[in-house]
Amino acid sequence: MGTLSGKVALITGGARGIGRETALKLASEGARVAVCDLGDARHDISANAYALAKGNDIVETTRLVTEAGGECIPLTADVRSSTQLKNVAGSVIERYGRIDILATCAGISGFFNIHDMTDANWQGIIDVNLTGVANAMRAVVPHMIANHYGRIVVVGSLAARRGTAGNSPYSASKWGLIGLVKSAALELESKGITVNIVHPGPVDTMMNNNPAVIAWKGKAPAPGELIPPRAIAEGIAFLASDAARHISGSELDIAESRAATWN
Ligand SMILES: NC(=O)c1ccc[n+]([C@@H]2O[C@H](COP(=O)([O-])OP(=O)(O)OC[C@H]3O[C@@H](n4cnc5c(N)ncnc54)[C@H](O)[C@@H]3O)[C@@H](O)[C@H]2O)c1
Repeated sequence: MGTLSGKVALITGGARGIGRETALKLASEGARVAVCDLGDARHDISANAYALAKGNDIVETTRLVTEAGGECIPLTADVRSSTQLKNVAGSVIERYGRIDILATCAGISGFFNIHDMTDANWQGIIDVNLTGVANAMRAVVPHMIANHYGRIVVVGSLAARRGTAGNSPYSASKWGLIGLVKSAALELESKGITVNIVHPGPVDTMMNNNPAVIAWKGKAPAPGELIPPRAIAEGIAFLASDAARHISGSELDIAESRAATWN
């Protein structure tokens, strides 16, 4: 029996990267999972420097989880919309009857200096990375309070530990998540809900290994320099487990030394 046997998890940004690995890991520990991502109903997010996932990516996550013996449902939502996330939470409750775990993996990044950043650049990243996480929390927390049980794990970044030249809205959004997580942890601990944040270093996903980021940094990642998304999924699975039931409001840094060399 896995550490998450009988649990139901909702994962935002589950179509690829860290979100997909989290779906696979949580399912391998026995959780039934629902993954949500943008799908094919494209919304222009001009702040982002590379292509976001498509509908077939979320179908592929579902296929991989199922192939590995797990249970997974694909759902579509733009995390910038609290209404869409409430609908997603409703679909999960309708299908599985509960939501025990929320892992927020949806996120975007782009490179702009302060002096030439547009309103859309700034707002796009804040809307997805910060407001999107608050929207996801607000969608699931009423259900978790009703069950007096919940594990919320937010994906932050080590870019919230130091400034990042050319990536200020991203750092600011991730820094903001720390305040959100620590506040929610205080509010929700007496209701059986833990809220924690993991801070990955540079991970080998589309976000940190694409032509735009390589052009900005002027270098491609060296072999082995980026950590596998599985490393982040392992941290999320731990914080989602009952072994972490007394841990709330905490920050888990993953691969700090790599961040120092890559950023
Ligand atoms: N890759 C890294 O080096 C790294 C480092 C630190 C933190 N992170 C964080 O990890 C998380 C996952 O990123 P990743 O590396 O897997 O990148 P990724 O681009 O592979 O995955 C991000 C996913 O979020 C989805 N998404 C983006 N905007 C969305 C929206 N408005 N609504 C719904 N879904 C949306 C994308 O379609 C994509 O599937 C992000 O929060 C990111 O900031 C990544």
